[in-house]
Amino acid sequence: MKYFIGIDTSTTATKALLIDEGGRMLGVASNEYPYDTPQPLWSEQDPALWWHATSLSIRQVVSQAGVDPSAIGGIGLTGQMHGLVLLDEKGEVLRPSILWNDQRTGAQCDEIRARLGRERLIQITGNDALTGFTAPKILWVQEHEPEIWARARHILLPKDYVRYKLTGDFAIDRADGAGTILFDLAQRDWSPEVLAALHIPADYLPKTYEGSEMTGTLLPAAAKDLGLPAGIPIFGGGGDQAASAVGTGAVRAGVVSLSLGTSGVVFATTDGPAIEPQGRLHAFCHSVPGKWHFMGVMLSAAGSLRWHRDTFAPGTDYDTLLKPVADVPAGADGLLFLPYLTGERTPHPDPLARGAFVGLTVRHSFPHLTRAVLEGVSFGLRDSFELMKGAGLANISQVRVTGGGARSPLWRQILADVFGAEIVTVNTAEGAAYGAALLAATGAGVFPNVEAACDATIQVTGSTRPGADQAVYEKLYPLYRGLYPALTPIFHAL
Ligand code: XUL
Repeated sequence: MKYFIGIDTSTTATKALLIDEGGRMLGVASNEYPYDTPQPLWSEQDPALWWHATSLSIRQVVSQAGVDPSAIGGIGLTGQMHGLVLLDEKGEVLRPSILWNDQRTGAQCDEIRARLGRERLIQITGNDALTGFTAPKILWVQEHEPEIWARARHILLPKDYVRYKLTGDFAIDRADGAGTILFDLAQRDWSPEVLAALHIPADYLPKTYEGSEMTGTLLPAAAKDLGLPAGIPIFGGGGDQAASAVGTGAVRAGVVSLSLGTSGVVFATTDGPAIEPQGRLHAFCHSVPGKWHFMGVMLSAAGSLRWHRDTFAPGTDYDTLLKPVADVPAGADGLLFLPYLTGERTPHPDPLARGAFVGLTVRHSFPHLTRAVLEGVSFGLRDSFELMKGAGLANISQVRVTGGGARSPLWRQILADVFGAEIVTVNTAEGAAYGAALLAATGAGVFPNVEAACDATIQVTGSTRPGADQAVYEKLYPLYRGLYPALTPIFHAL
């Protein structure tokens, strides 16, 4: 029996998860770290934290699972996407990593659009320039820290810094590569045209690999740090969203994954490099070889419900909060909620977008407001579905829902009614790290391909189909859609 480890270098912790060849999880260990906001809009992290937490988590998971370290057949990597790590010619870190949630690069996004033309940028990379992505962060360093840029020789993403420490190789998977927006989406590799326009030497960038390809082997020095034998193969893996999709089995066109955490992510696999012509959806490579995906990101999904609970009913548990909501009719007696409590990414990339309750009367009670929050978030997520359908994703047969919000049967029913699609739950809850471990097991030959790995290990555990309320939501959705354009001038003035 061989065992496989998935490592997730997230924004808040590094998790290591260990599975056997059948995909059974034998252990999981996680070590937390902070991130810094040295100035408003900034978000940074010291890469040394990731490596320290990786070595602790790997040692802990191997001892927890009680397996012989020499039976580890491979390690797959995943982590927070888009973060910029700069190394000098000796491989030393030059400055703290600028993370995915850093918002300092508005001007650099405009500059990228100006240099390439917005249409051409979307045509090549599949995406508009957003502050979250890597390319504008590189321009920011070129402009504001020229002395750092002059010494830079290697550009990596967070999990690929961990890969460099493990193997000594400069390598990246194609899902995370596409999230830099330096990629030619269709070619699944760096775009010479984009690199030239942004004055980034091609040899600063790591070599690209598919998610289940081996990128190198564990160095003796790293092996000593981790308590593992040298030579263990390290596989490509993927950015956390793509690896998470593998971990829930969203690896075929038509099966969508919906992660209902603080933020809400709608993820749909595509068989070709499809793009939304205005760049309102993210379009990246999947960590499934030869596949791509669309992604819509809502910034306050279950986060809206948490805000609502913490503000109006602090200390209440979610079951108690949601119980009386079942008695409120669909549509909350004419009350709508707009969930842009922290600005928005999809479908309105607008940091100044705001939340709203619209339609309040004296007949509305607290459970009406709670229901409106569940419905408003569901409508906002439907916006991503509609963009995907408009961009050619014809048939959405099933939505696999994960994250804290997925635990509520009431919310799952509202989602099924609002989307008009079957909502299912699955047996895997460990998301990205589990997906990374499956990619490693596939690369090591345990499964013939990623789809087969998912079929063998991931099962549907529950299903919710659209019911009678679907008709009510069909009538309300266009009204919800009218809220943002109507309120935008007021949001921006506020
Ligand atoms: C995806 C994104 C986030 C980070 C969080 O585009 O920015 O999901 O990857 O870890």
